[in-house]
Amino acid sequence: MNTKLIIANWKMNPCTRKQAEQLFEAVNKEVKKRDITGKEIIICPPVIYLASIIKNLKTKIKFGAQNCHWEQQGAYTGEVSPKMIKHSGCKYVIIGHSERRNYFKETEDMINQKILSALKVGLKVILCVGEKESEYMASVVKKQLKEGLAGISRVQAEKLIIAYEPVWAIGSGNPCKPSDALEAKLFIKKIITEIYGRKLSDQLPIIYGGSVKSNMVNKYIQQANMDGLLIGGASLDSREFVNIIEEVND
Ligand code: PGA
Repeated sequence: MNTKLIIANWKMNPCTRKQAEQLFEAVNKEVKKRDITGKEIIICPPVIYLASIIKNLKTKIKFGAQNCHWEQQGAYTGEVSPKMIKHSGCKYVIIGHSERRNYFKETEDMINQKILSALKVGLKVILCVGEKESEYMASVVKKQLKEGLAGISRVQAEKLIIAYEPVWAIGSGNPCKPSDALEAKLFIKKIITEIYGRKLSDQLPIIYGGSVKSNMVNKYIQQANMDGLLIGGASLDSREFVNIIEEVND
């Protein structure tokens, strides 16, 4: 059985440290009681909460950041570097989320630089790709993968996770049909095979994100054969997130 990834992207939530600690503790308490063999649970809170949440180092949950800069240090007001993220106890970083691409005008080149620097310090990169409603999946995803992964070696690429997140499905309550998610997964595999060969494409996790709730987990994991899920809104409700974790089965 392949390990299934269940990744929570809290985005810019919740508003206070206390609420963030409570949310984490509520999930952690339930995860502690369960056998999570075959599942990797990753929480990506706002970076400002990482220190207070990660102090609970005995947890089975892993941590990630939602973004990073491409330099490791320097005069970049307001930014956080991959090295800082790594040293704060994270194993993962999300790069190229559509909210970063659209609201903060991140280009393929910026995303590529971020991926390279994050991989250099040993972070695993969750690269988000996906088309807008008016766009054609294959051409957008192909460009995002080819340009985002330019100059990234076959060995470095082993630390990648690709998240297919159609922009129109994010936060809209309108998830992508499992058959379309499967089509996107197969297309991503084809491009990864073109870039790195079949072996890597067979082992690289490809996950789905966009309005996932616990009652549809099986559709993505079983029908669409996804290697995991990236959960936004539903990860802010500890019960619902734990239900999602429970529903993920091979
Ligand atoms: P959503 O967000 O689950 O709220 O749609 C997913 C994401 O943005 O990663």
